[in-house]
Amino acid sequence: MRTDEGVDQRVYRKDYQAPAWWVDGVELAVDLSAPADAEGAHPVTVRCKQKLRARSGQAGPLRLDGREMELLEIRVDGQPLPPSAWSLDAEGLSIPEFPAQAELETVGRLQPFRNASLEGLYGSAGLLCTQCEAHGFSRITWFQDRPDVLSTYRVEIKADPQRYPVLLSNGNRLQESESDGLRTVVWEDPHPKPCYLFALVAGRLACVRDAYTTSEGRQVAIEFWCDPGLEGQLGHAVQSLKHAMRFDEQAYGRAYDLDLYMVVVARAFNMGAMENKGLNIFNPKCVLAHPETATDEDHVLVEAVVAHEYLHNWTGNRITCRDWFQLSLKEGLTVYREQDFSAAHAGGSAQRIQEVALLKSRQFVEDAGPLAHPVRPASYVDMNNFYTLTVYEKGAELVRVLRALVGEQGFASGLQSYFDTHDGRAATVEDFLSCFARPDGAPLVEPMLRWYDQQGTPRLLWQLEELGPTELQLTLQQEAPERAGKGDWQPVPIPLQLVAVDAQGLVPPEGDKDSIHVVLEEAQASLSLRFARPLQAPYAVIPVGGFPAPVLHEQKLDTAQLRLCAQHVQDPVARWEAQQALYREALSGLLKAEAPSPVALPDMQALAESGLDAAVLAEMLSLPCVGTVLAEQGGDPAALARAYAQLDAALAAHIWAEPASLQAWLQTPDVWRFDVRDNGRRRLALRVLSAGLRAGRGELEELAWSWLREADNLSQRLGATQALWEAGHATRAHALQLMSERHAQDPLVLDRLYALRARFANTD
Ligand code: BES
Ligand code: ZN
Repeated sequence: MRTDEGVDQRVYRKDYQAPAWWVDGVELAVDLSAPADAEGAHPVTVRCKQKLRARSGQAGPLRLDGREMELLEIRVDGQPLPPSAWSLDAEGLSIPEFPAQAELETVGRLQPFRNASLEGLYGSAGLLCTQCEAHGFSRITWFQDRPDVLSTYRVEIKADPQRYPVLLSNGNRLQESESDGLRTVVWEDPHPKPCYLFALVAGRLACVRDAYTTSEGRQVAIEFWCDPGLEGQLGHAVQSLKHAMRFDEQAYGRAYDLDLYMVVVARAFNMGAMENKGLNIFNPKCVLAHPETATDEDHVLVEAVVAHEYLHNWTGNRITCRDWFQLSLKEGLTVYREQDFSAAHAGGSAQRIQEVALLKSRQFVEDAGPLAHPVRPASYVDMNNFYTLTVYEKGAELVRVLRALVGEQGFASGLQSYFDTHDGRAATVEDFLSCFARPDGAPLVEPMLRWYDQQGTPRLLWQLEELGPTELQLTLQQEAPERAGKGDWQPVPIPLQLVAVDAQGLVPPEGDKDSIHVVLEEAQASLSLRFARPLQAPYAVIPVGGFPAPVLHEQKLDTAQLRLCAQHVQDPVARWEAQQALYREALSGLLKAEAPSPVALPDMQALAESGLDAAVLAEMLSLPCVGTVLAEQGGDPAALARAYAQLDAALAAHIWAEPASLQAWLQTPDVWRFDVRDNGRRRLALRVLSAGLRAGRGELEELAWSWLREADNLSQRLGATQALWEAGHATRAHALQLMSERHAQDPLVLDRLYALRARFANTD
């Protein structure tokens, strides 16, 4: 962004300087009781007292950020400051000579009902709420709006209880009183925090209460606040929170640290959710879930988002970021912890497949396009543009890389040392990495920083040479991402786990392990691979281990090799990747007007006998998303869409080639409950149903309609509706109408139905 004056507002990581002033305590008095102005908007006044202490120990200039506020009063240690002693501009407040240590008091007037930025304090549909990350606090009061200024907060909120019966802020509820028809509530957060974690909510809200006792014996009250009428949709989120609390104690040794944990459901909230200390704010989509009105996937999403925001309490809140360039230190690490939680709790091997699918289909594309940037950028213009797939998803993968480099033990102890050393402080990626050590003493921080500071997905070129019946030579060459400037790429450490497979299945390596572990450090490495038995052609050597590093493997496996992998490899991610590659190959064939090769379609018998989870089976039977294929390989979208439809039809017919064997896969649990296995069974059944309708199995119409009418959960009802549309079935419009009537009162379900209708906009 360039301002009107043409000044470059770019902020550079290298320019970081510690704050000139520390803040030893903040007291906010927020008055919501003012009557409406001529246009009917209620202004709000915010009195802020902050105890400032110069880092230099000497009096000097003080600069505070502040926007879109009217300054009503300004005092230092209780004495009004003469106008000559300060100046105000559109971005903040300057006091050229501020004492080495003093209390600054400002009173500002805000217009939350005219604030359409969704940052700071804003009003919507009668509810007042805040969003302060990354720079919203400077719309609430004048402050050093940066994450490395940590302070305790005491917040007093005054309002007319008729208009705002519920008044919330961070921490513990200290006092509540009423006089002259106004209610005052006082909140205190004893844990020093950066101002981006400040939150305030006022409105007419209903509450769902629960309780949790931490491993340290702390009794925590849980309060979920929502619009009256939505209480019945909060049970799943409450359970998810309690699971996340238990998980952080058991897996990371971290317990909750306040007596109260609150979540507010705010319709106007435009992000998914925000981790404000003790007072999370959620978009309804990320917190409401009931089997009648939310699918299994919605339940999974709610569980993940609730866990994510909770897990920030230790990675983000207790230990925060020194500056916004370090964003991945909290977001990448918290996504990693959230994935770890989902793996341990919801479990299921399909989850890692979905993570890898998201990474490869979206983050790799971002990293290869014009918006590519390092996980830790060197500069930004507007921080809000940096909440990206790269910072989040690739950031989480880098934590996974780190774990592979230091080993499970080293990872666990490194994290403990990170928590112990940096608790209560603002940290950097270097601080984090410095807590870990590699078992062989090899350097860690500098090589890992190359991952954080270079953009693009590195490519790994594979070359395999036969040295003998039981010995191969594998040459791996690390190459710069395609868009990176030649010559300036520094190789990154790439952990790998390899297996060989031939027609008889896995070929075990020599020794007592069932796969080969290596870490690639240099641009090129040559490995000699020895096996316990002779390899039979055709064979393949492939990476397994749940995709331990975000790299593009350039391997050029042929159909026969891919098919071996899709049939015999146990690692679900590798197996799924092989099948996806086969589907892609079939698509390319169709684009060249070749009939879809039957060998590209999954071996149904091998799948039936594989013992894979139902959810993984469903993934194996699903084509890569057409948008992703288009983003990856370009070409004519219309031609691709035609080829895709052909392949989809061929796959549907292939799945239903032996109807008898599919009956077991069509069975769904009798009663809905949130359970990974049950979710997987419903997913597989819906996939098979959709394929069957598409393949013209008329007898399935009845099943689809019975799910649509009678199933006790939205997953099956919506899934059946979707299957009818995907098959272009004659009853599809009727199905949609019935669903729309049934869910006419639920905006989230209607959203899904509109989305479904929009997918088939060209059909009627
Ligand atoms: N801290 C973020 C919310 C946020 C995002 C604030 C962007 C300011 C700007 C929060 O922890 C978060 O990451 N929320 C995600 C959902 C999460 C499960 C990945 C979101 O809002 O999409
Ligand atoms: Zn987050």
